[in-house]
Amino acid sequence: MWASASKNEIKRSVGFIGYRPKIKKSDNQKIAEVGKNKLKKFAEMETFTNVVQSPMQHPGQADHELKGKWNTEFFKSNQPLTLELGCGKGEYSVSQAKFNPLKNFIGVDIKGARMWKGAKLAVEQGITNVGFLRTSIEIIDKFFAEGEVQEIWITFPDPQMKSTRRRLTATNFMEIYRRILAPGGIIHLKTDSNFQYQYTLEMVKENGFEIVANTDNLYQSELLDDVLSIQTFYEKQWRERGIDIKYLAFKLNHNEQLREPDVEIEKDPYRSFGRSARE
Ligand SMILES: C[S@@+](CC[C@H](N)C(=O)[O-])C[C@H]1O[C@@H](n2cnc3c(N)ncnc32)[C@H](O)[C@@H]1O
Repeated sequence: MWASASKNEIKRSVGFIGYRPKIKKSDNQKIAEVGKNKLKKFAEMETFTNVVQSPMQHPGQADHELKGKWNTEFFKSNQPLTLELGCGKGEYSVSQAKFNPLKNFIGVDIKGARMWKGAKLAVEQGITNVGFLRTSIEIIDKFFAEGEVQEIWITFPDPQMKSTRRRLTATNFMEIYRRILAPGGIIHLKTDSNFQYQYTLEMVKENGFEIVANTDNLYQSELLDDVLSIQTFYEKQWRERGIDIKYLAFKLNHNEQLREPDVEIEKDPYRSFGRSARE
């Protein structure tokens, strides 16, 4: 038996101390490869002229030099500006830019390795009316001036079911969006999450914001058009699981004090509540 057994088989059969199953080594290799890929993407991002990176957040942070100047300094074209907040790989920003050459688009996310994909695609396809900003949405008013933004898209955000303040459609975020949105500016929410959709609807009603469009099943709705048919990475995954897509568009039509809705909303049964930290 010993003569034909490999070294590893022998080690395994005698419970060799220090034996590490092969699978662990390949896991480590995979992690190292992912790390290397991320570093490659970060390095490449530094060379993209369509990306602005400013991930650090600190108290008393100064305004960014592009604040109020995105059209004149960055795009060099004076067109209405749309933001996609939590853009991930930037599918919405890039596709919308293709559909609307007379508008400018900026995808915002804190995760550079994801945004690399959209930024690279835009470079490769020569789409010049889309850019990317790597920063925290919490400080977005350090980057955009009052009234500089015409529309905001929030695409498949983590619903943050345990933390209202981290939810991208909570009133603390509405306060920030209000500072940069032009009068009449629209916020679009596209989500798989019934929790996020119901919460946002309650928040909108509680504050008397104007609803522009609303459906709890977009793909069965007459609202569906070319722009609403754009599918993000997360949207594809949720749709494959048979989850209906919800869409809500509304206007922040006043500057009064905002109130959080005081309602109990059923949590999404298919989500792990602890997952948010990794999103
Ligand atoms: C669930 S993913 C959705 C990504 C993309 N919109 C999609 O549909 O595929 C949420 C994204 O929002 C980003 N994000 C969440 N909170 C953020 C914050 N406060 N500031 C910046 N990015 C944030 C995450 O980094 C992540 O890429």
